[in-house]
Amino acid sequence: ICPGRGFPSILTVCGMAAVWQQVLAVDARYNAYRTPTFPQFRTQYIRRRSQLLRENAKCGFEPGLRRHYLRLRSQLLALRYGPLSEQSSFRASSVRSSRTTLDRMEDFEEDPRAQGARGHRRSVSRGSYQLQAQMNRAVYDERTPGALVPTSVAEASRAMAGDTTLSENYAFAGMHHIFDQHVDSAVPRLQFANDDKHLLACCSLDGTLSIMILSPSPPSVKVVLKGHAGPVTDFAWSLSNDVIVSTSKDGTLRIWNTEDGRCIREVRDPEASELLCCTFQPMNNNLTVVGNSKHLLQVVNISTGKKVKGGSSKLTGRVLSMSFDAPGRILWAGDDRGSVFSFLFDMATGKLTKAKRLVVSEGSPICSISARSWISREARDPSLLINACVNKLLLYRVVDNEGTLQLKRSFPIKHGSQPLHSIFCPLMSFRQGACVVTGSEDACVYFFDVERNTKAIVNKLQGHGGPVLDVSFNCDESLLASADSTGMVIIWRREQK
Ligand SMILES: *[C@@H]1O[C@H](CO)[C@@H](O)[C@H](O)[C@H]1NC(C)=O
Ligand SMILES: *[C@@H]1O[C@H](CO)[C@@H](O)[C@H](O)[C@H]1NC(C)=O
Repeated sequence: ICPGRGFPSILTVCGMAAVWQQVLAVDARYNAYRTPTFPQFRTQYIRRRSQLLRENAKCGFEPGLRRHYLRLRSQLLALRYGPLSEQSSFRASSVRSSRTTLDRMEDFEEDPRAQGARGHRRSVSRGSYQLQAQMNRAVYDERTPGALVPTSVAEASRAMAGDTTLSENYAFAGMHHIFDQHVDSAVPRLQFANDDKHLLACCSLDGTLSIMILSPSPPSVKVVLKGHAGPVTDFAWSLSNDVIVSTSKDGTLRIWNTEDGRCIREVRDPEASELLCCTFQPMNNNLTVVGNSKHLLQVVNISTGKKVKGGSSKLTGRVLSMSFDAPGRILWAGDDRGSVFSFLFDMATGKLTKAKRLVVSEGSPICSISARSWISREARDPSLLINACVNKLLLYRVVDNEGTLQLKRSFPIKHGSQPLHSIFCPLMSFRQGACVVTGSEDACVYFFDVERNTKAIVNKLQGHGGPVLDVSFNCDESLLASADSTGMVIIWRREQK
């Protein structure tokens, strides 16, 4: 039982639970090496380990003892299979097939001590959650320009949602599934499809992308997109999910049919430079913006494969990240020298006009930018979330129509050099607070409440074997996906009872 959190649980934020998750993480890292001739036992093994560790965590062992156990366990595994600290240095191709379905991991009995109040509260939380998802869609669709928050509705619905806290709402307990089809190379980006909670894609430095489906069970790789001749750096789903665009260090932008995995079009960079990031114009999916290693930002018409006249601009460094605001009027782009530029986008012509520049931290790469018009239901508060290799996740307020940014607050994470990404939670909560999620170099996924002044950390997930590079929520927030530098993709399931 975790003292002082008002929520007795096996959750990760408290010390004891953290240790059992670390033990599971160590076991998960070595899973590909177990029973080389009987891969079907690996799933069973990890499931059983999870069950036992969870059960034991309730017995209240002294945390120091558990940490000692963790050290011993790591040493024994390293003796048995070799050290794993040098990521993917010796992963044999024969170990690739170990997909681990952990879908029944959450079916174990609750701690009886926690049963009463919590069991009841949880069931309330679940019902209201579905209601929340529906109302969210009906009333607050961000894609409807000018839609305003009707405060009375928000208050009424919060009352219906019950008195649940953000921590309870974002309690992700178990791993649902592990994908390891890219296990020798980093997976820099992953993203759930729009309005489809079981469809997900990721790109890899191995030169491919994969589209995965999580239902019907067991989850599987639907199709692998093959064609790039170099690491795939970024990709984006079109609004209707029929098309994916991707960028690669091979100097091409590719457009893929997501049904059959066919490459529909290949657009070469005129400067033959590495392409590092891409995004769709949210209001016109015929237009994609691409950033390259020669500091250039370029609007491309994907119906024709041609550059849009007036649709290019130079940054001060390699273009690493970008994001449109929801109406598609402002585009922010970040480079590896620490600058974020805002551009005004002309919808009729596709022209870009440079507006503002912010130096976040001179020389620190801007790895990730995410824009959001509403931070919570309380007020319109356009915001930008930035990862900039400064050991912090940064939250900015957008203060005018030209995209000027003002630092609102920051959250500590481990971030020195890896291309880490972060996101806003897709649904606006009826509860107090608003949530953001980020990867981190300490192999954890962090949830922060942007409106809580102290103890902003809401949850922390452990299970990755290397820096967590990207995270993505599905549309109803029932699943979270995270990807790391060792190529592992973990699907986490929201705790429901
Ligand atoms: C994209 O272009 C095609 C014609 O090539 C047009 O039919 C379609 O409406 C356009 N889509 C958008 C979102 O503008
Ligand atoms: C993109 O190309 C299509 C097909 O030629 C054309 O209809 C459309 O107007 C173009 N869009 C822009 C913004 O140039």
